Amino acid sequence: MKETISVEEFKNKIKRVLITEEEIAEAVAKLGKDIDAIYDGRPILLVSILKGAFVFMADVCRAVNVPCEIGFMCAKSYYDGTESAGVVKITMDIDKDISKYHVVVVEDIIDTGRTLNDIVKMLKARNPLSLRVVTLLDKPSRRLVDFKPDAALFTIPDHFVIGYGLDCAEYYRNLPYIAEFKEE
Ligand code: IMP
Ligand code: MG
Repeated sequence: MKETISVEEFKNKIKRVLITEEEIAEAVAKLGKDIDAIYDGRPILLVSILKGAFVFMADVCRAVNVPCEIGFMCAKSYYDGTESAGVVKITMDIDKDISKYHVVVVEDIIDTGRTLNDIVKMLKARNPLSLRVVTLLDKPSRRLVDFKPDAALFTIPDHFVIGYGLDCAEYYRNLPYIAEFKEE
């Protein structure tokens, strides 16, 4: 069982709001329009990586007007200590043959880039009609592998952030904004 902490103490870990609900809503609405323009009526499959991207996914799917299906993947990363040699284990996969789809990967944050780099390689090997990656947040200064998303709504400095799906030890995903986490 997790230890009990006071609500006050819990809230005190939220250092400051980095991106407000309104700023997120505006950026997501624009992303929806961009996706509509790119696919121009062609159906898409939005694939989000659990758990962090679940809130972003819920908003992105409601911001697009092209016919859209949704799918989820869950990934765990294992690294052997050498920064570049990584293995991503898929603990839950999409239940579709993606060779029939224009796939849009919806991610919460790109940090070292290793998770998405591996997932994109894996998805490309399944020959989707096309594949694009959109991320809510990008921390390019932390990159360990060369990975660039097709769209990043916000580029942020090297802070650990929480909220809008992103967690610290599974907490704070339910905050409606993105905040900086107060590290000890
Ligand atoms: P990457 O493989 O290093 O790019 O890992 C990205 C994953 O690490 C994200 O999908 C998040 O789950 C997690 N992550 C990276 N930075 C943060 C952060 O600032 N807050 C919360 N989760 C993070
Ligand atoms: Mg994630």
